[in-house]
Amino acid sequence: MRIAVVGTGYVGLVTGTCFAEVGIDVTCIDVDVKKIENLKNGILPIYEPGLEEMVARNSQKERLSFSTDLPSSIQGCDAAFIAVGTPPGEDGSADLKYVLAVARSIGQNMNDYIVVVTKSTVPVGTANKVRQAIAEELEARGVDIPFDVASNPEFLKEGAAIEDFLKPDRIVVGVASTRAEEVMKKLYKPFLMNGHPLIFMDVPSAEMTKYAANSMLATKISFMNDIANLCEIMGADVNMVRKGIGSDARIGNRFIYPGIGYGGSCFPKDVKALIRTASENGYEMKVLKSVEEVNDNQKMVLYNKVNNYFNGDLAGKTFAIWGLSFKPKTDDMREAPSLVIIEKLLAQGAKVRAYDPVAIKEAAHTLGDTIEYGKDEYETLIDADALLLVTEWPEFRSPNFNVVSKLMKDKVIFDGRNIYDPAEMNEKGFTYYGIGTKQ
Ligand code: UGA
Repeated sequence: MRIAVVGTGYVGLVTGTCFAEVGIDVTCIDVDVKKIENLKNGILPIYEPGLEEMVARNSQKERLSFSTDLPSSIQGCDAAFIAVGTPPGEDGSADLKYVLAVARSIGQNMNDYIVVVTKSTVPVGTANKVRQAIAEELEARGVDIPFDVASNPEFLKEGAAIEDFLKPDRIVVGVASTRAEEVMKKLYKPFLMNGHPLIFMDVPSAEMTKYAANSMLATKISFMNDIANLCEIMGADVNMVRKGIGSDARIGNRFIYPGIGYGGSCFPKDVKALIRTASENGYEMKVLKSVEEVNDNQKMVLYNKVNNYFNGDLAGKTFAIWGLSFKPKTDDMREAPSLVIIEKLLAQGAKVRAYDPVAIKEAAHTLGDTIEYGKDEYETLIDADALLLVTEWPEFRSPNFNVVSKLMKDKVIFDGRNIYDPAEMNEKGFTYYGIGTKQ
């Protein structure tokens, strides 16, 4: 089989490379000449564990190629995946101009039946607009070539995207014809080895599934953050409560870890978008509005603890920050809680010294020289008044606490991810604050 993937961002690149990995002939297309040149030379625009090797392997085997030429690349393809960006427009809603421009370009150039698949996260109703755009272009050309539009939302987690793609919990595909269903079935067959389902449904339901899934996960997190905050007030320990509820299979152990709020490019954007879609259609998503509000407040929780500890006197103090990206194993800084915390600390006249195993370069785009960057986690601690654990990278889980305590001026740890054991920290002589734990 042969496919084209338009857009070599995070979703497009992972999708194209993983399809190539199972033997499908893939061309990844982008309008960005520099990006395509780099990809041809094995230089990736994003960091994702394992992806670079996989791109190199499949390029070498000539199953994966890169091009800026959409018209020729879509010829002979069974499907074309649209995985271009949908940046927030002026009013905050997803701007579909890139998605629809690709649709038009496909309509202008296709010569055979093709399934056009929307892979970018797009509002409910987008596939219809894509279908319309292609139909208009075909009509303008005066040709009558059959095509289908399918919606195939992605459920990839940054940092685990390859594993998620190759061994998915499920694959959701919205289609409107059996012909399109057959093509999609054939394409995804190699990924169903682990017995998980390929679920076909109508197109609007597939589009909605994406938003419902992310919103449900965001709801679990905000709910647990609320419970954590209440635990602190009531003298309970959220780590215990989490275990207590998570072992109920109906609730489950995953995505119930309290912390300093969810970030990233997906949850914040998708929660907002669903609230908006609902309100535009005369419905109010009351639960989701609270999910968002709780999350905004949660990003301040660590800062508030610091501020309370130092009685509001942060000027001139030095704070060590471990972790900048919104979560481990990615350099993504979008909506990262670290940005909110650092901004507040700097506004109070504090000094910040941060270290992240991967995201420093990315963080420096936003933070510039407003903060210092340590060359490793220990260097950030020299004469620090406190340590703030912001992102739970594996290398921060069991540091040498003797070294930590020698380097710091004041032995205080604010753990935004509950990765340390409060009792152990106290034993080692640290003043320790977690999220929703007993102080
Ligand atoms: C999320 C979804 O998990 C993917 O299924 C989806 O495909 C993706 O969005 C998307 O729409 O593209 P991602 O944003 O990469 O993936 O990150 P997650 O691992 O889901 O984490 C999101 C945020 O929730 C992070 O800030 C993380 O720290 C936070 N989180 C997660 C918690 O605070 N507690 C938890 O228990 C789990």
